[in-house]
Amino acid sequence: MGLSQAYIDCFKKRHSVILGITRSGKTFFAARILQELQDSGVHTIFVDPKHDKGYSHLGTICHTPNEVLYQLLHKNKAIIYRPPASKEEKVAGLDRISDYLINFSKKDGYRRIRRVIAIDELQLFVKKGESKAIEAIWTIGAGIGIVGMALTQRIQLLNETAWSQSDNKVIFRVEDRADYLRSRNLDHYVDKLDFFQDSINQFYYYSTTGGGNWKVCEPIPPTRRKGNLNLQPY
Ligand SMILES: Nc1ncnc2c1ncn2[C@@H]1O[C@H](COP(=O)(O)OP(=O)(O)OP(=O)(O)O)[C@@H](O)[C@H]1O
Ligand SMILES: [Mg+2]
Repeated sequence: MGLSQAYIDCFKKRHSVILGITRSGKTFFAARILQELQDSGVHTIFVDPKHDKGYSHLGTICHTPNEVLYQLLHKNKAIIYRPPASKEEKVAGLDRISDYLINFSKKDGYRRIRRVIAIDELQLFVKKGESKAIEAIWTIGAGIGIVGMALTQRIQLLNETAWSQSDNKVIFRVEDRADYLRSRNLDHYVDKLDFFQDSINQFYYYSTTGGGNWKVCEPIPPTRRKGNLNLQPY
């Protein structure tokens, strides 16, 4: 089963979290959503602390917040930010980028741009449990056209605001303890742990777009769908 346009649209309007252990398919999933969003005119930033070459098709690669600023000024709709290794620079860099995004959203000529910022390995950008950028994006962002997508390995690593302010939740296989999952009202996922732990179900995911309805979803196909008139050919 491919991704429906209605499902993709949810990621353009509302914040998201994408969770799963290493190699579970988080970045692959996020990358596909970002590509589909780009095709429908949404601007995207992929924050990639892993400098993952496999995902360099997601945009123009920037290594500093200043380079990102330059691309934002030129309305580049597909940007990758690869932060440096140090934690301090990662945290400060993302804070600067979120300030730029918020300021651009108030600027003539840029106001109407809708932007999704996907932050891979979100925990690397949080210091002592806090991140100015994540708080800003996940609290005021949605109202001004800036939508966050947070990727991390365990729910427990996730900043509280990102979890509670994300309508879209995508859970691959996670290794949070069952009692922790229950404390997050995920009793229904606990019931499916055996399913997600079975390697035969690799790349399956459990997803909601809000409203309390969750669904087990088949892996997204490795190649992108074609033939939708609304989308540019790939
Ligand atoms: N639906 C899928 N169909 C086919 N291959 C997939 C699918 N999802 C992921 N893969 C492949 O599985 C591997 C792991 O996926 P991915 O990089 O998304 O994992 P990840 O959860 O981001 O892991 P990490 O925490 O290590 O970054 C990649 O080689 C990717 O191409
Ligand atoms: Mg990844």
